[in-house]
Amino acid sequence: MEKTLRLNFAHLPTPIEELPNLSNALNGPRILVKRDDQTGLAFGGNKTRKLEFLIAEAQEQGADTLISGGALQSNHCRQTAAAAARYGFECKLVLTGEKPQRASANLLLDQLFGAEITTVEDRAFRDEVLQKTFDDALAAGKKPYLVPYGGSSPTGALGYAFAMEELMKQLSGGFRSFQNFGSLERGIDWIVFGTSSGGTHAGLVLGQRLFGFKGKVLGISIDEPEEELKSHVSDLASRASEKLGGRIQFSRNDVLATENYCRAGYGVFGEGERETIHLFAKHEGLLLDPVYTGRTAAGMIDLIRKGFFKKDETILFWHTGGQPALFADKYSQDVVR
Ligand SMILES: Cc1ncc(COP(=O)(O)O)c(C=O)c1O
Repeated sequence: MEKTLRLNFAHLPTPIEELPNLSNALNGPRILVKRDDQTGLAFGGNKTRKLEFLIAEAQEQGADTLISGGALQSNHCRQTAAAAARYGFECKLVLTGEKPQRASANLLLDQLFGAEITTVEDRAFRDEVLQKTFDDALAAGKKPYLVPYGGSSPTGALGYAFAMEELMKQLSGGFRSFQNFGSLERGIDWIVFGTSSGGTHAGLVLGQRLFGFKGKVLGISIDEPEEELKSHVSDLASRASEKLGGRIQFSRNDVLATENYCRAGYGVFGEGERETIHLFAKHEGLLLDPVYTGRTAAGMIDLIRKGFFKKDETILFWHTGGQPALFADKYSQDVVR
């Protein structure tokens, strides 16, 4: 495997904890959680692992400005803005949504990190505005580096290929980062996590192959149709493998995903998300976010209730962060009514 450029600012390995009260309440299988909401950079989350590779690439290319885009409450943009501040880049963000009168949550943090923000109301124009922001920076003599939506380039996906290596090391005996934890003789049968721009998913699929994870890796779609997700993730995983020195060809059949929990649309907060956030909070004192992990865990709980997982199986819920959005004006009223 070729050595790839990487910085080390994430707090790794992230802990694994057991959620016995939730398992009991659901009369379901054993549930563990991998705490990537604790990766350390500006409230953490899954993007921090990707940014270790993306920022290294930006530095290698001699960039001085990071440009990225996402939703108004993007966790990816918050973590990108924080990494830019820490590593001395300017940061320009193109955020989709109606600009609120008062910034809250992730948007407020973007401002705190000094990012220059352009808002686009109509999503149809976001690519165009992002490109223009890039071109304008070039014309102004800057050296911009485009961090793709969600950090999901082949380079960014490597963060999750190596996250799988980290998990395998934890499983094979390191156990120091396990808390409140019994034995794990059977290993982990399922990894369940939220998938959207596909970088986390592609990295885990690649890591599964490289590091020999024997369980299944199930992505719960936040906003993408299943078939599109499978094509995109398999292609991204194949291209990410090239970064490590030899192409592994993945096909759609290598990717497990369900679109059953995203029909309401991106960021639409519903009963499933609300019930799930309350269940995790009440039984385990663990916080989920309204857009990603709330929806993902709602899907996982629905599958548990339907008997999709066997009672003697072990599920690892990979927590990808996002909790600052709990405090967004857009969601806070709805989370606790
Ligand atoms: C909290 C959280 N979970 C999951 C995801 C989805 O990850 P990916 O974009 O790699 O599919 C995101 C993406 O923004 C996120 O912010």
